[in-house]
Amino acid sequence: MNDSSVDERGYRLRAAALLRSAANDLKRDDEAAAADLGITAAEFASYAGGGAEIPAEVLRRAAAVWPVNESDLMPWRDDCPDGAVVHRLTDAIASARVLRRGGIAYYEYRDTAMSRVASFRPEWIRMLSVVDDDDPAHPGVRWNRGHLLYQFTYFVGPVNYYVREPEGDRVLRMNTGDSVWGVPFSPHTFTCREEGADAHILALTYGAELVGDAQRELAALGSGTAASFVRRPEEPASAAILRDFLDGCALPADRFAGLAGIPEDRVADLLTGDVPPTAEELARMAKALRVSPRDLLPVVSDMAGSIRHCRAGEARQWSYPSPGPAAYRIRELAGSSLHPHTRALEILPVTGSADVALRTYQHQYVYNVGAAPADLRWSFDGRSFEDRLEPGDSAYFKPFASVAFAAASSAGCRLLSLRIGGRVTPESRTALGSMAPGGLPRFLRETGRWY
Ligand SMILES: [Fe+2]
Repeated sequence: MNDSSVDERGYRLRAAALLRSAANDLKRDDEAAAADLGITAAEFASYAGGGAEIPAEVLRRAAAVWPVNESDLMPWRDDCPDGAVVHRLTDAIASARVLRRGGIAYYEYRDTAMSRVASFRPEWIRMLSVVDDDDPAHPGVRWNRGHLLYQFTYFVGPVNYYVREPEGDRVLRMNTGDSVWGVPFSPHTFTCREEGADAHILALTYGAELVGDAQRELAALGSGTAASFVRRPEEPASAAILRDFLDGCALPADRFAGLAGIPEDRVADLLTGDVPPTAEELARMAKALRVSPRDLLPVVSDMAGSIRHCRAGEARQWSYPSPGPAAYRIRELAGSSLHPHTRALEILPVTGSADVALRTYQHQYVYNVGAAPADLRWSFDGRSFEDRLEPGDSAYFKPFASVAFAAASSAGCRLLSLRIGGRVTPESRTALGSMAPGGLPRFLRETGRWY
């Protein structure tokens, strides 16, 4: 990983803003905050103004005497101020290491593009264990225990994919262009079906909304509380959501029925989950609870067990843009309704077409899975950049970077793109848009007292 690109000054200013915000939230002026922290008011002003780096001892003291955590006072490092990180195949090869399982060399891992501002942990992985059948109990199949991160997998060559479900072990015979999306903690493994074949995967793991604050909050709240937060997609979710809202405003069901203008026995049925609400009932309930109808809607799961897979030949595809001359062929790879802000695509630039920039609200990872180079042009924060992705090169792009891909030769090129949401959820976006005018710059960097 590259440390030299980390923006030290920006980090110090963001740390200063977090310290100022914490003092503001606790209604401490410089003198009061300094007294709590055992420093002078001038020192506090310097730390909270970004003039000097905050000593670790001051952060420890703040976390000891204030109801904050050290992590609340520590900002992120921005390692891609130009909106992108490009990672070369040579660096991937230099990171290669073979990991063993059960005494045999099992996988060769190589790092690909990553950034501190996104939860991608993508690896290129070669299968070193070769099997001669599709039996999950084959001695060459060595399982993992499952892991926290979500995993989108893109297959190259004759790869067997195994997944452990409560009903038993499944095996899928995968080939180039096939893909799988899977939920956390389901055990899985991969082998090669053909001696001497190039069999590898792009294992694009990422944490999205699960890692960071949500994980820390639940770990601190305790396992019983965490279990109470669980909402299973297969359960009658609309009833569970309604029950949460009634509990949240300490509203008895009969009084709620009156407020919503829905008969009491019908509300009782809705709370059992045996029947879904009609559209009209949904609108009435939302109005009675003073929420949006979407707040009462359940997530619909399209999962078959813990994965969704997509065969290369079955992928939906389209041209972009349309109508007009196409700049890209887009092929949609595996994904799930459980994760609407994750999209896996193959992007095939049309040879000779004009540059058309693609722009998305998601964090984007790109790997050149083809045999020919792709030219990149991107703009971010009012500046423009160019680079080239050779086969095996990869890149990360920040949300809302405008990126145009072009085939660098008549051979055409093929790019794998995985787009994911970060910690800025739809609820966060609504909150940003609901602030009083001038709020956003202060949200990002509060520089003074607000009171
Ligand atoms: Fe995995």
